[in-house]
Amino acid sequence: GGHERLAMEQTPLWVLSGRACSIALEAVPGAVPLWRHFGARLSGAPMAWPLAGARPLPPSTLEGDPALSALPTHGQGWFEQPALLGSRLDGGDWAPQFALQRVERTDSSLHLALVDMVAQLAVSLHYRIDPDSDVLSCSAELHNTGDTPFRLDWLAAATVPLPPEAGQVIGYSGRWTLEFQQAREALGVATWRRDSRRGRNSHDTFPAVIVGTTLADDDGPVWGAHLAWSGNHTLLIEPLSDGRRQLQLGEWLAPGEVVLAPGERYATPEAHLTHSPAGLNGMSANFHRHVRRAVLRWPGGEMSPRPVHLNSWEAVYFNHDFEGLKALASAGAEVGVERFVLDDGWFHRRDNDRAALGDWWPDAVKYPHGLTPLIDHVQGLGMQFGLWVEPEMVNPDSELYRAHPDWALHSAGRPIVLGRHQLVLDLSRGEVCDYLYGKLDALLRDNAIAYFKWDMNRDLATATLGADHRGRAAYRRQNLALYGLLERVRQAHPALEIESCSSGGARPDMGILRHTHRVWTSDSNDALARLGIQSGFLRFLPPEVMGAHIGPARAHTTGRSHSLALRASVAMFGHLGLEFDVRELDAAGRSELARWIAVHKEWRGVCHSGTLSQGGQGGTQWLQATAVDRQSALFALYRRVEDTWRYTPPMQIRGLDPAAVYRLQAMHLPSVSHSQSGTDTIRALAAGALEFTGAQLRDFGVPLPALPPESAILIGLRAVQK
Ligand code: GLA
Repeated sequence: GGHERLAMEQTPLWVLSGRACSIALEAVPGAVPLWRHFGARLSGAPMAWPLAGARPLPPSTLEGDPALSALPTHGQGWFEQPALLGSRLDGGDWAPQFALQRVERTDSSLHLALVDMVAQLAVSLHYRIDPDSDVLSCSAELHNTGDTPFRLDWLAAATVPLPPEAGQVIGYSGRWTLEFQQAREALGVATWRRDSRRGRNSHDTFPAVIVGTTLADDDGPVWGAHLAWSGNHTLLIEPLSDGRRQLQLGEWLAPGEVVLAPGERYATPEAHLTHSPAGLNGMSANFHRHVRRAVLRWPGGEMSPRPVHLNSWEAVYFNHDFEGLKALASAGAEVGVERFVLDDGWFHRRDNDRAALGDWWPDAVKYPHGLTPLIDHVQGLGMQFGLWVEPEMVNPDSELYRAHPDWALHSAGRPIVLGRHQLVLDLSRGEVCDYLYGKLDALLRDNAIAYFKWDMNRDLATATLGADHRGRAAYRRQNLALYGLLERVRQAHPALEIESCSSGGARPDMGILRHTHRVWTSDSNDALARLGIQSGFLRFLPPEVMGAHIGPARAHTTGRSHSLALRASVAMFGHLGLEFDVRELDAAGRSELARWIAVHKEWRGVCHSGTLSQGGQGGTQWLQATAVDRQSALFALYRRVEDTWRYTPPMQIRGLDPAAVYRLQAMHLPSVSHSQSGTDTIRALAAGALEFTGAQLRDFGVPLPALPPESAILIGLRAVQK
């Protein structure tokens, strides 16, 4: 029997690999490279592929029906969501067909230059994998090489394949005071899609998504994706006809927002993606490493221990009384605070939230001698001074607006749309940024300010997008100008640290974190609500940038009351702060608070550089920070609601050195009047007298006391030197 040898063309395969993650793209002659793989690390990576893009075609299929490419477009016969949408203003060139022109690659990066000679468009696709974090960074750029304008509607920063078995998704939802809520769903036949069109990440759609098979805490393949962009976004997962799914993410563009003149280019924000074989915590560890290594830029090049804050907002709101603030600062210093942040209410005629945004100089009534006397007092107590600003905004009732009403974004002929009584300044106008820079620079020159809390408290509504831009959407240029302004301030004042706040956590992405050092996670300081908020935050962002404050005993946003032990145990792992009137505490209250702050100072090094993992079952949730050298770990078990078990199950603690012996120390024992905290084991835990090996902790776990609802137990583990 004669075996026919088919002449199969060998085509190059480009593989990029990290430690546990690889991508592979296959060259296709005359077309765009096809996706072969995004997932577990490929071993013995093949250098060529024998099929040259072909796949057996089923009946009723167009000839050459393409599989998922790096840049799927309608012109190539791609009937699912294209990675590029747009057309010439006369409607032409809406269905381009690209071919590979050039490839550049290194061990960790791949650059594909694609062209469509007919449409006169060029696209560059960039892929870079960081072998230390396993994070794949992707971006795309469109170049209009034609001689008429091209209107761009969508260019994905990344288009990647997901395997059929990855059928579970975690998306984000939320609202003010309840950000970062994780919504688990099964992926089905419909396209899964989340957008922000609010001109900021928004409270309801943090720009990230997680996909996996089981989405377990520590096992199983997980894919995560995030868009490093503080404006609008689209995240989309669409089933394909071969059982796989495509994931696309990029900047959501309003109609007509980007029209490229001949020769102009549009570059997408960066998308950061990863694959981990080690469940949700494996994925988080990758993103945390990436943010630490490649995103954050600290004054002096290295993060200093995160200073404990006292923020004045929930303590005094707009009631700035000089003597009262001094007393507040003194009370903070007494319990161990290291940075006093003067929130909203300090500037010219700012007595409530109806007026004054834009007038960035100290109020002459509240601060007749400027901020210096208060700053001197704060510094005299050994603390740094921080100040709240909201530069992007203006109240109609302000000196700035009276002088320059045209500086606010507003469509001529449309009603003004206010949010929190304020309008958005048009940052794309040079004189607006010059004004803001001048005011911020003067504050920083005249005062010893170590820190800005940079707020942004409203969505950009359609009717705010026009001004002299003839109604053109302003989202993109606004966001780019914001980054530019932040950069200008930082370059002139390199020691300054900045927090990104947006009515709580509405602007926390890795784009703004290139320019800032902390995120105000949520305006909710309710410990119970914070458990869910912070869990979602920590999936992608590391704890040292997570603003986490101990609020008042009765939370201002929910009315719920919690013990200091719970409030402190929940805030403990983040960038700690206090946000209540510490002056009201009696001596016992102050010393209890001081003790919790001391615990944080002892453990913040581990929390802010180690591996953070989380999980939960039933009515409980746990969090663990493990030192890089595995010699110590901080562990918290939170009980949200009661359940029917009589005993708390032994808590298994993973990630330690199995052979080492660890001494356990509970920071406090939760007790209600009928609890049994008198048993020997429990007493030993509190006395720091229990020792286990890492293997025992991993395999058998620690016996824990019954916990009442809305309580926590916090345990430090340190290897015993034998
Ligand atoms: C926003 C912030 C708060 C506080 C107020 C001040 O809501 O999220 O933390 O700074 O503004 O007006």
